[in-house]
Amino acid sequence: MFTVKNESMLQQETPCLIVGLYDRPLKFAGELATLDELFNGELTELVKEGDLSAKSKKVAIVPTLGKMPAKRLLFVGLGKEKQADFHEMKEAIGGAFIKSKHLGLTSVAVALDSFVCEEISAEDAAQAFSEAFGLATYEFKGYKQASNEPEKKVEQLTVLTKAESEAVQAALQVGYVLSQGTNSARTLVNTPGNMLTASDLAAYAEQLAVKYGFEVEILEKADMEKLGMGAFLAVNQGSTEPPKMITLKYQPKEEWTDVLGLVGKGITFDTGGYSLKPKDGIVGMKTDMGGAAAVLGAMEIIGELKPNQNIVAVIPSTDNMVSGHAFKPDDVITSMSGKTIEVLNTDAEGRLVLADAMTYAKHHGANYLIDVATLTGGVIVALGTDKTGAITNNEELFEEVLEASFEAGEFIWRLPLTEKDKKRIRNSSIADLNNSPGRDGHAIMGGGFIGEFAEGTPWVHLDIAGTADTNKGGALGPAGATGAMVRTLALLAMRRNEE
Ligand code: BES
Ligand code: ZN
Ligand code: ZN
Repeated sequence: MFTVKNESMLQQETPCLIVGLYDRPLKFAGELATLDELFNGELTELVKEGDLSAKSKKVAIVPTLGKMPAKRLLFVGLGKEKQADFHEMKEAIGGAFIKSKHLGLTSVAVALDSFVCEEISAEDAAQAFSEAFGLATYEFKGYKQASNEPEKKVEQLTVLTKAESEAVQAALQVGYVLSQGTNSARTLVNTPGNMLTASDLAAYAEQLAVKYGFEVEILEKADMEKLGMGAFLAVNQGSTEPPKMITLKYQPKEEWTDVLGLVGKGITFDTGGYSLKPKDGIVGMKTDMGGAAAVLGAMEIIGELKPNQNIVAVIPSTDNMVSGHAFKPDDVITSMSGKTIEVLNTDAEGRLVLADAMTYAKHHGANYLIDVATLTGGVIVALGTDKTGAITNNEELFEEVLEASFEAGEFIWRLPLTEKDKKRIRNSSIADLNNSPGRDGHAIMGGGFIGEFAEGTPWVHLDIAGTADTNKGGALGPAGATGAMVRTLALLAMRRNEE
C-alpha cells in the first residue's frame, strides 16, 4: 500500500501529487521553486490571486497540463511554519484524502519533504500521513443493497522523500496501525445491536486473540454466578441474550506483574431497563459498547506494535432490556467485591457492569485500572461532544493518561471527585452504595461509583458518552462512531513500554 521512494516529485508519474504548503511567508523554495519555474511563475500568481492558499487545511487542485509527469497537484495548506502542529497537519492531510476520493483517485503520491519543517520531522510527517489516510478514508458499509457503481478509493500511496526510507516506512506503519485500530472500534460501534450481541463481541475478541496470540477467557453466566458477579448479572436479567465477561491478556514480560488493566463498558444496547429511556433518548444506544470497542481497538494496536507492557483487558457485555425477569428500581444486589448496591435507576447500568469488571480485572492482577465507558449524559452537558471526561484517584496515572491523550490528539478534561461526592454515592439506608444519587453532578456520581471498586488501585475513568460518536463528519472521519480513546489507550501502553 505504501511505497517509499527517494525520488524527486518532479519526475513522479502519478494521477495526483500531494504537496504541503507552509506560510513561511508563502514563497516557493527548494523543489517547490523548481516547480514554480516549471509553471513559469504561474503558481506564485495563483497565490497572489488567492486561488492557492497556505492557510491551514485549505486544499486546491492545480492541473499540470503536461508540464510534469504528475497529472495534477493537490496543494494542502499547512499554516504558519512556526505554529506547525502534528494534529492539525493530520486534519489538513485528511482533507486532501477526502478531495482525492471525490476525484475518484485510486493512487496518489506525496511530496513528503514539503510537509517537513523545524517542528515536524519526515517521520512525523509520514506518521501523520498514514494515520490521516486511514482515518479519513474510513467508511461504514452499512446494509443498503449493493449499488452497481464500482467503489473507488485510494489504495496506492507513493511517498517521495529524501529522508531515510526505512525510518519513513516504519513511521508510515505506526500511523496506519493507529488508524486501523481506531477504524475497527468505529465499525464495532456503528454495528446495530441486533447484529452485535455480547456473544458476537466475545467472538470478535476471540478472533483478535488468535491473530495476536493473546490469552482469552470468556466467562459464561454460570461462571459469573459462581464468582458472585451480582451487579453484572442484574443488568443481564431482563435479556434473552447470554452475558459475556470477556478477558484478554497480553504478556510480553516474563512475570505477570506491573499489569495495566483496561476495562470497557460493553452494553450492546441500552433501553434503560424499567427506568426506560424516552423514545428519542433510546435511539443511538447501540453505541453503548463504545468503551468495549475502544479497549478492543487499542488491543489490536497493541497486538501490532507489541509494547513491553503487561495488559489485561476486561469487557463486561450484555444488553440492558425490559422483561418480567428484568431487575427493578429498589432491588438490592451484591457485587463480586461484596459491596451491596441499592438500585435506584436501572438506566445507570454501566456502573453496575463495570463494578464487577473492575473487581475481576484486579482478580486478574491489574495494578493500574483505566475504565472507558459511554457512562453518562451528564458528561455531554458538562463538556460537550468533543471532550472525554476523566476522573481519577491517582495524580500520577492521570498525568500519564493525559500525556498519551496529547500524543493521540484526543481531548480529555478532568472532573473533580470530592469526599462529599463519595458520601452521596455511599448514601443508602439499605445497602453500601446506591447507583444513582441524583441528576446534579451525575457524570461525577457515575465515575465515582466505579472508583469505589478500584479501592486502593490507581485508577482513571474515561467517560466517552459525548465523544464515542458524532453527527458531523470531518476531515478525519465520517459522521457516526469516532473510535474515541483507542489511540490514547494504545499510546499509553506504548509510553509505559519506554519507561
Ligand atoms: N448509556 C447511557 C449514557 C449515555 C447517554 C451514553 C447519552 C451516550 C449518550 C447510560 O447508561 C445512562 O443511561 N446514564 C444515565 C445515568 C442516570 C440514570 C444517572 C444518564 O446519563 O442519564
Ligand atoms: Zn443506561
Ligand atoms: Zn448505558
